[in-house]
Amino acid sequence: MNQDHAGYNPDQYWENRGGPSYREYTESAAYAQYHHAQHEFFTNLIAQLKPQCLLDFGCGTGKLFPIWTGVSEVHAYDRSQSQIEEARRAASRIRPENPYKVLHYVAPQRGEVPYDDDYFDLVVVAEVLLHVLPEDIGGLLDELRRICRGHLAVVTAAPFTNAAAHCFDHNYPALFMGRFDLIDDHAVLRQRYLVGRKIGAASVSRPQTFNLEPRTSDAILTA
Ligand SMILES: C[S@@+](CC[C@H](N)C(=O)[O-])C[C@H]1O[C@@H](n2cnc3c(N)ncnc32)[C@H](O)[C@@H]1O
Repeated sequence: MNQDHAGYNPDQYWENRGGPSYREYTESAAYAQYHHAQHEFFTNLIAQLKPQCLLDFGCGTGKLFPIWTGVSEVHAYDRSQSQIEEARRAASRIRPENPYKVLHYVAPQRGEVPYDDDYFDLVVVAEVLLHVLPEDIGGLLDELRRICRGHLAVVTAAPFTNAAAHCFDHNYPALFMGRFDLIDDHAVLRQRYLVGRKIGAASVSRPQTFNLEPRTSDAILTA
């Protein structure tokens, strides 16, 4: 596991690396096989779970947006302004009659998530958690559990070979434990796919309204 992340500031990193250059990378021939595998996995997952309300957490440039068109309420969130600008452009093309709610919000705590409790049937976290600092990851999983009323789906790297300062080899089964029952854990093309069902989800009812206000006052919100 790479422990040496001195100098890695996640927000700064994704501000600089995000935007058009990140979109070009995910649209490149080199990335196509991963894109295809994720498309297939999430298309099947949506068909099985039939979520009414979905969050694409750390949505980046909106690479996965075309998959969510059959979901009635779609939210997408990222802390990076450069990523979210691309995501908004993608969202505006995809479903103008029922737009995705694309939110840029920088919570003071990196592990904090700006949504109401038990709001989402499905929270998708694709290629995000491997870039979350070890000191933030537990708090972030608590938050993902809090806002989720159904399932969490994670795509991450496996086996872990990237020693770069912005990548971390978290123990995912341990992170799911006590928060989500792990119902799928498999690898395709050196990417790991995990699906969890929120523990205690059956007793939870979904709030009727969604509050787009930031949960803390000193945040940047450009929704
Ligand atoms: C490798 S990109 C993946 C983007 C997208 N999910 C995809 O599959 O193309 C990682 C993204 O996670 C975002 N991110 C990292 N940590 C985050 C956090 N704590 N909250 C929200 N977004 C975060 C970054 O800004 C970046 O856009």
